[in-house]
Amino acid sequence: MGVLVDVVLILVYIIYTAKAGEVQHLKWEVEYKRWSPDGKESVVIAINGEFPGPTIRARAGDTINVELINKLPTEGVVIHWHGITQRGTPWADGTASISQCPINPGESFVYRFNVDKAGTFFYHGHYGMQRSSGLYGMLIVDVADGETEKFKYDGEFDLLLSDWWHRASRDQEVDLSSKPMQWIGEPQSLLINGRGQFNCSLAASFSKSAVPCDLKGGEQYAPYILHALTRKTYRLRIASSTALASLNFAIGNHKLTVVEADGNYVEPFTVDNIDIYSGESYSVLFTTDQYYHRNYWISVSVRGREPQTPQGLTILNYHTESASRLPVSPPPVPPRWDDDHYSKAFSNKILAAARSPMPPPAHDRRIVLLNTQNTMDGFTKWSINNISLALPSTPYLGAIKYNLADAYDQTSPPDHYTPADYDIRVRPPNPNTTSGNGIYVLSFGSTVDVILQNANTNTFNVSEIHPWHLHGHDFWVLGYGEGKFTDKDEAGFNLKNPPLRNTAVIFPYGWTALRFVADNPGAWAFHCHIEPHLHLGMGVVFAEGVHRLGAIPNEALACGLTAKYLMNK
Ligand code: C2O
Ligand code: CU
Repeated sequence: MGVLVDVVLILVYIIYTAKAGEVQHLKWEVEYKRWSPDGKESVVIAINGEFPGPTIRARAGDTINVELINKLPTEGVVIHWHGITQRGTPWADGTASISQCPINPGESFVYRFNVDKAGTFFYHGHYGMQRSSGLYGMLIVDVADGETEKFKYDGEFDLLLSDWWHRASRDQEVDLSSKPMQWIGEPQSLLINGRGQFNCSLAASFSKSAVPCDLKGGEQYAPYILHALTRKTYRLRIASSTALASLNFAIGNHKLTVVEADGNYVEPFTVDNIDIYSGESYSVLFTTDQYYHRNYWISVSVRGREPQTPQGLTILNYHTESASRLPVSPPPVPPRWDDDHYSKAFSNKILAAARSPMPPPAHDRRIVLLNTQNTMDGFTKWSINNISLALPSTPYLGAIKYNLADAYDQTSPPDHYTPADYDIRVRPPNPNTTSGNGIYVLSFGSTVDVILQNANTNTFNVSEIHPWHLHGHDFWVLGYGEGKFTDKDEAGFNLKNPPLRNTAVIFPYGWTALRFVADNPGAWAFHCHIEPHLHLGMGVVFAEGVHRLGAIPNEALACGLTAKYLMNK
């Protein structure tokens, strides 16, 4: 009997520990540091002295415990774990004014959360435009112990893509908030794992005007070379934390098979190159089946905006060929920057893999969000249903939990834009907008459809790309359409195999339909992932089930009205 009890206890212990995963304790110091991401010395926000920040590598089921120490001398900081749903830990989502107070200079905050799903993710600053200062890194979650991936590969490379400006992001914030607005312009360089080339070209041998880079000089910006063996299949994890640029990624002479998007398996498909928008991540497989005595270009190019930024380049180096020999063929030629059909065709290829979770068949609530570029007293703004998001000083999470009605506007923003016959093909007839901080409160467990509706900006004949990212959830992408969404379009929704994602793009003059279940207690940002657009108000906040939460750590609420509330309690 005693032995049996012991055996059962041991079994319970094994099952419990296998499920619970491991706890990774990390201690990170965030500080400004001089750095040359592209050959020109600038200032970055580094973590433990590194740029980009360290890669977190975990297994599904693990707990990540990051003690973040803010060593920026005069600013607050927070870090958001992009793609992690934070079930049960919404205060660890790392969004200033939404899930927590910014961490004061000299103070620290512990982010403790579970990574419940395998996939390719990243993390980044989420206070002001600190992401643009280089506060980002990768977060990779492997399948749980004892589980295997759905596809086979021999090796892996991880690439974090970003765009880089020589002007500091704090100066850019001032520029954008000036009257009239000073636009940040196109990036000076594109970075692959924090490394790029400004003022010279890796591919100088193919373009007579370019100056060749000094590959040996500059440890900080020498390209990150992918050293591969021949006749092997590699998994390439790619994430984009760009501030502005939509990108196209290619490997010369090699096909890419897409297998994962934003931590969700997709039905594999093979292409020459992929589009990747800010906030997205992919895994692609490629096989080193080309002529072995060679190197091949890996390129990153700007999409959707007229490029003024050189291609970001690095090399796929086949074993035994010297890594310092440049490829014999020129870098991949990207699709034309304004070829929207090309981008749409790619997005439409992304479908859920077999046996993926299916969306509920119908919605309980539909929220239609029209995004417009506007003006407010001469300042430029981006608005959603004519309200430009201005975040409050008290984080929503605590304000809702403690019913602090003065902390933010208690009136919900509208579920539909007005007037209903708004013409999305022309500039706003009345460009004036208002700012606000009201939120959408969702009934717990309800199915919500969001229709993102694009429109013409304040400039004649211009409509921009916006990649929208949802915190706390994945959503199903039910479809993309042209022009104005109408109820008839619902008949065309893909309810059979819509991909689950956390980021989806709206194309110029088009709409995108998303569905998610509001079953994760917390306050969640939903916004355009283009940093200057969010800075100018392009976002909304959803909240659900906050009263179901237990205690919120006080450190998350040590500012604004929640601080006062806690003191008087
Ligand atoms: Cu990656 Cu709210 O952002
Ligand atoms: Cu945008």
